[in-house]
Amino acid sequence: MKIYVPMDSAAKALGAEDVVAALRAAAPEAEIIRTGSRGMIWLEPLVEVEIDGLRHGFGPAEPGDVAAILDGSSAKALGPVEALDWMQRQTRLTFARVGVVDPLSLADYEAHGGLLGLKRALGMLGQQIVEEVRTSGLRGRGGAGFPTGIKWQTVHDAEAAQKYIVCNADEGDSGTFADRMLMEGDPFTLIEGMIIAGLGVGATKGYVYLRSEYPDAIAVMSRAVEIARTTGLLGADVLGSGRAFDMEIRKGAGAYVCGEETSLLNSLEGKRGVVRAKPPLPALEGFLGRPTVVNNVISLATVPVIFEKGAQAYADFGLGRSRGTVTLQIAGNVARGGLFETAFGITLGEVVNDLGGGSASGHPVKAVQVGGPLGAYMPVSKFDTPLGYEEFDQAGGLIGHAGLTVFDDSTDMLGMARFAMEFCAVESCGKCTPCRIGAVRGVETIDRIAQGDPTALPLLTDLCETMKDGSLCALGGFTPFPVMSAVTHFPDDFARLKEAAE
Ligand SMILES: Cc1cc2nc3c(=O)[nH]c(=O)nc-3n(C[C@H](O)[C@H](O)[C@H](O)COP(=O)(O)O)c2cc1C
Ligand code: SF4
Repeated sequence: MKIYVPMDSAAKALGAEDVVAALRAAAPEAEIIRTGSRGMIWLEPLVEVEIDGLRHGFGPAEPGDVAAILDGSSAKALGPVEALDWMQRQTRLTFARVGVVDPLSLADYEAHGGLLGLKRALGMLGQQIVEEVRTSGLRGRGGAGFPTGIKWQTVHDAEAAQKYIVCNADEGDSGTFADRMLMEGDPFTLIEGMIIAGLGVGATKGYVYLRSEYPDAIAVMSRAVEIARTTGLLGADVLGSGRAFDMEIRKGAGAYVCGEETSLLNSLEGKRGVVRAKPPLPALEGFLGRPTVVNNVISLATVPVIFEKGAQAYADFGLGRSRGTVTLQIAGNVARGGLFETAFGITLGEVVNDLGGGSASGHPVKAVQVGGPLGAYMPVSKFDTPLGYEEFDQAGGLIGHAGLTVFDDSTDMLGMARFAMEFCAVESCGKCTPCRIGAVRGVETIDRIAQGDPTALPLLTDLCETMKDGSLCALGGFTPFPVMSAVTHFPDDFARLKEAAE
């Protein structure tokens, strides 16, 4: 009997280890295979039992459910996992193997299409590889949505004895977990993507900058790199091709701003995580002053499937200039939270109400913050906005790393605006005045609004304009998004408090 249980940290946090112990005690003869998570977090720990070649799900499982799961009488039976609505409605390209394979089995990886992309890339010139990524339309999934092919072209064209690939696995945005899930559930995909990036731009060394709060991802990635080295996937002779690429996992110390690429590079060099002025671009003078590709985990982990299926096959999905799939992370006060990969174009309302099932509290949804702590609060009136970089921009929002945090009608939006300013004040690297000082003044100004000071609201608007225009990076520059979206879309929350003070 084969039983699959995630070892993903979300599943572990919800009790997967206790369920595994109970399964081992009740069915010592069963083969228990640890996987990543399918992304249905509300069903975790999700136990899958293979019956007639199909994996049948049971969840959320508790140790007391094990006997019934094993004798087929469980009320938590969900049927074949692949047939569940959540799975059926997805287009799983980047996450195709997550939740399916044993993350640390290279054989399992290859049995599920792993390394096909790299094998194809090994037969291509660097310029052809860069061209393929350009044709795919892939844009950076870390936040800015910058075209990956253009970034790679700049590094490819730069003359240098040494170039680098740096994977940004800092994943600091609130409500985001796609990077973690990918690294814990399918680490070889990221390794393969980084090797292809190295082949494309002429880099022989890579680093994954991984946040310290992700011990499981660090452990899985580190072990996967060791396996890749011993099997000849990494090293001086990648898969016997005569081409070299090796990589290391580096642990970040835990600062939101260290996810900003230049701050990350400083931290990686052992310096304080302070933002660098651009130019020079990291693509020209990045890690140790050498040409460097800095890409998000999901951007790099999407590269193998682009090479496996072909750039055009990837570009055929999507909307407008947002090609391929988006890995939505649905979180906050929501009935069904989790990871859902789908082509760009799905509307915000479909994600929140249809997939997410509305709020967990049962109260009406009031707002959704899309794109982490620097993203706008989108009101229900904007729920027809399709997920696309330009479409969100036009609606006054941003997609960022595609994290969605849902809030119900009990949320005080003035409090959320204050929180955004406070977050910026705490996390500011301190390099530029609009952010370092502005965020502190922002908190004070919002407190004045709460106390009913009529002069404070225009002051806040003015301050946000200054932060937007004068900040060196998006931490100070984008904090006005959550703040001003709260003011614009939820004026009652600002006026009500004013009235109470009068
Ligand atoms: C304050 C701040 C925090 C950021 N945090 C992250 C992060 O955690 N992960 C990430 O991939 N990008 C983050 N970014 C974006 C990076 O600066 C950069 O655009 C990204 O790593 C480039 O990769 P991509 O093109 O693949 O998205 C952050 C940017 C800012 C301004
Ligand atoms: S905006 Fe803030 S985080 Fe960014 S460089 Fe300026 S002080 Fe540093």
